[in-house]
Amino acid sequence: MAKSAGDASEFLPARRTIPTLRKAVQGCRGCELWKDATQAVFGEGAKGAELMLVGEQPGDREDIEGEPFVGPAGKLLDRALEEAGIDLGDAYLTNAVKHFKWRARGKRRLHQTPRAGEVEACKPWLEAEIVAIAPRALVALGATATRSVLGPGAKVTRDRGRLLEDGPAPITMVTVHPSAVLRAGEDRELAFAALVEDLAVVSAALEGVRGKHGTTGSRAT
Ligand code: URA
Ligand code: SF4
Repeated sequence: MAKSAGDASEFLPARRTIPTLRKAVQGCRGCELWKDATQAVFGEGAKGAELMLVGEQPGDREDIEGEPFVGPAGKLLDRALEEAGIDLGDAYLTNAVKHFKWRARGKRRLHQTPRAGEVEACKPWLEAEIVAIAPRALVALGATATRSVLGPGAKVTRDRGRLLEDGPAPITMVTVHPSAVLRAGEDRELAFAALVEDLAVVSAALEGVRGKHGTTGSRAT
């Protein structure tokens, strides 16, 4: 395997606001993934967002439109957030990896899971977003985001839905990726309900710190 350039760190601007980062990411050559992508897709959302949601990487639609979570997985995520009582206006959506990794099958571009080295290479962008937004709550969606945000110690299957200690935000959770719900077949409704339930725990915890209800929910252990 050819060794990549290293990582994204040398491409980050000195002054790291969301707008300066978003501009600079288009020039990133921290791994090979930029080569086959249309553009880098940076995070989007409210300036003072209290919740950050981290996905894996842009998909086919996101790569074309230049915005995260605008395809089918994003639509499902929007519905789940709404059902969990979370206002999209309070959220910032981003990905662990900023360029779409894919392989061709006929005319279609099939998603490929980024390798651990690519996730690692891209991490400086995500870290800078977390510093710039300083969200009260952060949710990692799926295994790739979980690895990037919490390291190899956290596992979606084991840890999903609980508020975790020592995450990058005061309220940190891991849950499934919305694409996994889309792929759940017959179990799709159950999988969707479970995602909503996890997000509702985060919503309740956020309300708790806002002081609306005084304390966080009983599951916030
Ligand atoms: N899946 C992701 O993980 N992120 C997106 O932006 C879209 C689909
Ligand atoms: Fe840089 Fe991340 Fe794109 Fe790789 S995937 S080139 S590290 S922005």
